[in-house]
Amino acid sequence: MAEPRPSLWERIRESSLYRSIYRTRYPDQPRWQSMVILQSLALHLHPVRVPKRATRLTYTWGLGGLSVWLFLILTFTGVFLMFYYVPDVPGAYFSIQNLATSVTFGQFMRNLHRWAAHAMVLLVFMHMTRVFLTGAYKPPREYNWMVGVGLLVLTFLLSFTGYLLPWDQLALWAITVGTNMAGSTPLVGGAIRTALLGGFSVGPATLVRWYTLHVIFLPLALIVGMSIHFWRIRKDGGISTPIYEEEEIGSHVQLAQ
Ligand code: HEM
Repeated sequence: MAEPRPSLWERIRESSLYRSIYRTRYPDQPRWQSMVILQSLALHLHPVRVPKRATRLTYTWGLGGLSVWLFLILTFTGVFLMFYYVPDVPGAYFSIQNLATSVTFGQFMRNLHRWAAHAMVLLVFMHMTRVFLTGAYKPPREYNWMVGVGLLVLTFLLSFTGYLLPWDQLALWAITVGTNMAGSTPLVGGAIRTALLGGFSVGPATLVRWYTLHVIFLPLALIVGMSIHFWRIRKDGGISTPIYEEEEIGSHVQLAQ
């Protein structure tokens, strides 16, 4: 009997064009499905297999992932704001007024950036609380906990440096109070305050410093820190898994037998 003709889809899968794009066979078996994850730039960030218990929403509440999403929203809206923002005195104040009154979606983008910033501080803190309450900071994850503390500090610093940029009364006095607090640190306080301000009081030099920190240095540092954080989650054996519920122990033992 003659072989059935291959379908159009089968012929596409065998074509050299398809094979030049996708390096593995069509993923119709678990082995090839694993290869898809391993060989894709975006997908290989995820482990090939994750214990079902670890995907339970009520374990992580997706708080780490939501923090990443907020960072992406902040980057996107931040680039939009940079198109219009002028980092000098008094240009900063007027460029924000102009953005809010004359630019299409200007006020919307500004509000989105501000609310996302507040939400990120809150969610990173909640993520840390979840990690603490589930004991996920214990070995072998203690190093990643410390990386996380670094990420928390960077998130606070991004929020704080962004606060000065509108150059309004709220910004000026908040930064005056904040830098005075840093200045009261024993021994090194005076030097830290001068370095932060670029002088003895909040002025144009402070604005340039904080703008550079806010749009370049701190986001890059956060990206490097997050990359180490995610890489380390994989090296620590994926995220910690919740302990078995009592009724699950029975089914687990049954499966093992
Ligand atoms: C920019 C800030 C942060 C981002 C984007 C982030 C992202 C993530 C993501 C996506 C996960 C996977 C599990 C989950 O979603 O809960 C995770 C796990 C983890 N994070 Fe963070 N995180 C941040 C800050 C922190 C902080 C402040 C701490 C603690 C001080 C921390 C400690 C940990 C630890 C120990 C794990 C492993 C948890 C486990 O195995 O159950 N992270 N993080």
